[in-house]
Amino acid sequence: AAMTKAGDHVVAARALFGSCLYVLEDVLARFGVQVTLVDGLDMQAWAEAITPQTRLVFFESISNPTLEVIDIAQVSALAHAVGAYVVVDNVFSTPVYSKAIELGVDVVIYSATKHIDGQGRGLGGVILGTKDVIRGIIEPFMKHTGGAMSPFNAWMMVKSLETLELRVRAQVETANALAEALLHRKDLERVIYPGLKTHPQFALTQAQMGAGGTVMALDVGSKERAFRFMNALEIILISNNLGDSKSIITHPATTTHQRLPQAQKDLLGITSGLLRFSVGLESARDLEADLMAALDASGVEA
Ligand SMILES: Cc1ncc(COP(=O)(O)O)c(C=O)c1O
Repeated sequence: AAMTKAGDHVVAARALFGSCLYVLEDVLARFGVQVTLVDGLDMQAWAEAITPQTRLVFFESISNPTLEVIDIAQVSALAHAVGAYVVVDNVFSTPVYSKAIELGVDVVIYSATKHIDGQGRGLGGVILGTKDVIRGIIEPFMKHTGGAMSPFNAWMMVKSLETLELRVRAQVETANALAEALLHRKDLERVIYPGLKTHPQFALTQAQMGAGGTVMALDVGSKERAFRFMNALEIILISNNLGDSKSIITHPATTTHQRLPQAQKDLLGITSGLLRFSVGLESARDLEADLMAALDASGVEA
């Protein structure tokens, strides 16, 4: 909102966290900003949607919850050709593995509630960009609209930066091992993890980040089985956070993305059996045993 005015045009990827979609489709529209949503993987769609009126381009570098990986350099080049800003929500890429600025992004956003805090204690966010953007555009808006973090939360987040890299690297290592293990299960419809060779943007992920992140998605086939599976887990918690030291599982269709109409869920692959799994710092062996036991216990419908 700080970077747009009435009459501006914004192009965004369609696969976004529910609240970001709300800001784009409901809030910005009320203030006369025109928003075009595109399939973030389709470079032709970006090229057609971005026009000389486009002020800003926005996307999640890895989308929530189906983990599509968007080509940052290509989209940035298209946006910069018309003088538009590129703003990226980089939560799933994590601050540790991101190369977003080097790849051409103007403004990088993190929900600090995720990996940065890493312990589910406080809400916060980070906006990174050039001095012109931060001092000239973001800071006056934030100062006058009150979006400020409490000093205690700020202190906590800064303390957490001390262990951020160690935590995230360990979580990524475990995520790789668990994704490989899940891939062998015949009773899963899909295992989506950008660090797996089976991921459609595996090569791009390697070039853009060098690792697949701490979150994966699995489709167990139905909502009933998803709920049985989640309830059978003993170590992994049911919650909506991610990037935490505790492993967390979420059912996007009924929580984070429940607001989306069915047609949009279908378009984004948010099926009733889809689960988002954020890998924490527990022992990889214990987590694998928990996942496998709960999958066995949850059964498959005939
Ligand atoms: C990709 C992404 N961006 C932003 C947010 C919002 O974060 P916060 O809860 O800190 O407002 C979330 C939360 O789930 C998210 O997944």
